Amino acid sequence: MSLILSIESSCDETAAAVVESGSRVLSSVVASQIAKHAPHGGVVPELAAREHLKAVIPVTEGALKEAGVTMKDISAVAVTQGPGLIPALLVGMNFAKGIAQANNLPLIGVNHFLAHIYGAFLDGGEALLKEKSTYPILALVVSGGHTSLLLISEDGSARQLGCTIDDAAGEALDKGAKLLGLGYPGGPVMQKTAETGDPEKFDFPRPLTGGAGRALAPENLYNFSFSGIKTALLYHVRKSRQAGICDEQWLHDTAAGFQRAVVDVLVKKSLSVLKNFPVKTVVVAGGVACNAELRRMMAERLGRRVDLRIAPPKYCTDNAAMVGGIAWHSFKKGDFSPLNIDSFARLPQIVNVPFVD
Ligand code: KG4
Ligand code: ZN
Repeated sequence: MSLILSIESSCDETAAAVVESGSRVLSSVVASQIAKHAPHGGVVPELAAREHLKAVIPVTEGALKEAGVTMKDISAVAVTQGPGLIPALLVGMNFAKGIAQANNLPLIGVNHFLAHIYGAFLDGGEALLKEKSTYPILALVVSGGHTSLLLISEDGSARQLGCTIDDAAGEALDKGAKLLGLGYPGGPVMQKTAETGDPEKFDFPRPLTGGAGRALAPENLYNFSFSGIKTALLYHVRKSRQAGICDEQWLHDTAAGFQRAVVDVLVKKSLSVLKNFPVKTVVVAGGVACNAELRRMMAERLGRRVDLRIAPPKYCTDNAAMVGGIAWHSFKKGDFSPLNIDSFARLPQIVNVPFVD
């Protein structure tokens, strides 16, 4: 049995967790900074770093306490290395290095993007990763920073099939919500507003899906674009204001139509991968995977064809359990990070994943 203490600080959540052998989450504590960033309409990197500075020690102490363990029980310290906001990442990284060195423990730097995928295998799902019948896995990672389709083979090699060429799906929802005056973060509030709306009332485009008689360039088969939906929303708002139809129901219908367009693109792109690859498992990961409409449509349109794995919402948004879970696979192989590792802002090219043993 090995217990990993993990730290996450890539964006606006300070999180710590204790995870046993890559699967059992003994504790997962998340301190959200949403209230601090909301007045700015988005995450302010320096503010995020300062909030991490305040929260990182109490959150870590909370995770150890909740797990009922002390540093003496811990086998390694895992930390998000990137991608993310550098000022925010540096706080978690520096802290993790400090506790690793002070307690003479190995340090494991973790790729946040891959950790999101691992979130779907926590709390018992890890056993599936050992089975041949699980592969290939198609991972749709949809968060505030990413919209990507990654194909993972049985030998652990991975191929990025496509990604967004402009905004990420979460970013589109956040910007759309801002435009509608719904507040920040946009995804959850867009979902709430859409609940009592008619998604068919207003039609929004589905960019790069080859609709409306427009041929899709081969290089964009698995790519996404969300800026067009956002612009369509802007025009829709202007036109509706001029027509004087912006009442309460209009807002609900608009949110429902906009959310449906974003979700529809995500589902369509996933389906087009299924047409061309013998995918056995589809993982939907990242903050946008919390979205009820996306979960429902994915289950409806892909659920019968593949094993669909979407983590519970607490492991979709940023958390440290996914970081501690994935790190166990590096721990087993003795694949540790030197104490001089640096954080990174951008996603490097992914050619393999560390969680296929
Ligand atoms: O994974 P995450 O917590 O942070 C990043 O790594 O970016 O994702 C945050 C994103 C935000 O854009 C937020 O609006 C979106 O996830 N999100 C949602 C929902 N909950 C969070 N989007 C749609 N529906 C939700 N229920
Ligand atoms: Zn994230």
